[in-house]
Amino acid sequence: MQNRPRRLRYTPDIRKMCRETRLSPDALILPIFLQDGDNIREEIPSLEGQYHYSVDRVCADLEQFMKNGVNKFILFGLPAHKDECGSQSFAEDGIVQRGIREIKKQFGADALVLTDVCMCEYTSHGHCGILDGTYVNNDKTLEYLAKIAVSHAAAGADMVAPSDMMDGRVGAMRTALDAAGFENVSIMAYSVKYASAFYGPFRDAAGSAPSFGDRKTYQMDYHNVREGIKEALTDVEEGADILMVKPALSYLDVIAKVKAATNLPLAAYSVSGEYAMIKNAARHGLIDEHNVMCESAVSIFRAGADILITYYANELADAIRKGEIG
Ligand code: PBG
Repeated sequence: MQNRPRRLRYTPDIRKMCRETRLSPDALILPIFLQDGDNIREEIPSLEGQYHYSVDRVCADLEQFMKNGVNKFILFGLPAHKDECGSQSFAEDGIVQRGIREIKKQFGADALVLTDVCMCEYTSHGHCGILDGTYVNNDKTLEYLAKIAVSHAAAGADMVAPSDMMDGRVGAMRTALDAAGFENVSIMAYSVKYASAFYGPFRDAAGSAPSFGDRKTYQMDYHNVREGIKEALTDVEEGADILMVKPALSYLDVIAKVKAATNLPLAAYSVSGEYAMIKNAARHGLIDEHNVMCESAVSIFRAGADILITYYANELADAIRKGEIG
């Protein structure tokens, strides 16, 4: 008989030792939705298991997540009122700015605070920038994005994450941050962000659906991958510290290719629609939620992601600690 390697020789311990993909709670980031008001902790209808928090209620839950090893949060805000130029997005007392101050007051450097920098949650028309008629004016929007980033940094954010997809925004934000004395605030660029139907539950959660048209003039066409590499390389040049691909599961090829073409750490955002699909299929008894969550997360790291933004961060940290994955 031929003496060939057999998987059956692997005990469970050896199998774990030989895993090619390693996960750590250190690499997980949890999205958090903040809204104006007091004493609010309401489950988000489109995102079961996720909550809208008022600033006074958010830290209690964050403390639990941190005890579980998840200490990185990306903040999204639902402002009390919206206008044409999204003025609440850069207001000193805006919802995200207040949230950052509260989290930093409670946890200091123990919590890493990232902020999503975009205008769609704050504009009355729901687009990610300043409108000229019915199209988004790229260069005018850059000034606003820079202002938002600086206002987040001034409130204490560790990292800003532009998700608007305007051209030149990483450079504009880097210049503005440096000029304001925030040289140490880093930028995670949503570099390769597709115009995706997977954002549906998020737009309900954040009240950010465009009131007309779509985002196809600034987000990417999902037929393209070389265009994504070009976007990523541009962000590298403009001074990004971390790159991102979004969504994740339908874009594993993009993750692998951007990873091969660049040398910066690479994040993937497993978006609201990916989470909602697992939740809802599990609720109907069609799949095992825990196992599908684990398999999906590992696939994203296996494709090349170094960092994962996911609504499952807390549950994944449990699975990693128990040795089920990673
Ligand atoms: C803001 C933004 C969106 C998401 C993150 N930042 C929505 C969009 O671009 O329409 C989506 C996140 C998710 O679906 O989980 N522009």
